[in-house]
Amino acid sequence: MEAAARYDQRARYDALMDVVRTRMTTRQFDPSYVVPRAHYELILEAARHAPSGANAQPWHFVVVTEAATKKTIADYFVEEARNRAKLHMKFPTPNYRGLETAPGFIVIASDFRWTRAFPVLNDGSALDRQYQENAERILLQSVAAATMSAHLAAAALGYNVWWVTAIGQENAQNAMKPLLGIPDELAVIDIFCFGPPAKPPYKRWKKTLPEIMSWDRFNAANYMTTAQIEDWVREKRHQVMYRDETKVD
Ligand SMILES: Cc1cc2nc3c(=O)[nH]c(=O)nc-3n(C[C@H](O)[C@H](O)[C@H](O)COP(=O)(O)O)c2cc1C
Repeated sequence: MEAAARYDQRARYDALMDVVRTRMTTRQFDPSYVVPRAHYELILEAARHAPSGANAQPWHFVVVTEAATKKTIADYFVEEARNRAKLHMKFPTPNYRGLETAPGFIVIASDFRWTRAFPVLNDGSALDRQYQENAERILLQSVAAATMSAHLAAAALGYNVWWVTAIGQENAQNAMKPLLGIPDELAVIDIFCFGPPAKPPYKRWKKTLPEIMSWDRFNAANYMTTAQIEDWVREKRHQVMYRDETKVD
């Protein structure tokens, strides 16, 4: 293929973008649907090919098919949402009951010992602390890359998805790991639910391209002050997480 044609495969790009655009979060699924086992493999095959720091591939995917396990995890989240409400965190917490009947349910775990594979000194020095922090970012970006590949594969199959991270706290980890036989050294990073939606999903607000893109130098027009960010969190966040169905691109 000529270079000009090789790097201008619009039909392929458009097919990918169709999946990218129609990947939409839902938090309530059709409880009667059963995900074929082969679909889990198709979805995790996409995760398997994800890039990762040092090609360490520091991820594990536990497919949860047992209703009782899903219920126990959902109960935990509902309880955690109650605790947050008591703490007045003001985060618009969704209804995590939807986890209980999510047809597709995958718990994603990682092993922070893999930070050793990234540039670190491992001598406990102040300088090492900085490298360690970046190593944790590398690890989390790697897991996110694999998670995103899996989400896109599920979207390509036609499913809606739900990326759940509200689980980092130590007590949540301690509650979930034994339930799933996940060794102590590992950490649960997120839960990936998917399936047909209970009601029609909607496209959420996305920033425009000029709002996120600069050429050569950071576009100062896109800089937000702390006060502006705090305003956004107060005035906009709840709308864009749950309600704004009007702006589609
Ligand atoms: C890193 C990450 C963490 C998220 N954590 C949660 C979560 O804990 N609970 C939840 O209901 N949604 C969570 N979401 C889903 C977002 O709320 C959702 O992606 C966002 O509102 C945009 O909607 P869209 O996915 O339909 O484009 C998370 C998404 C990402 C990428």
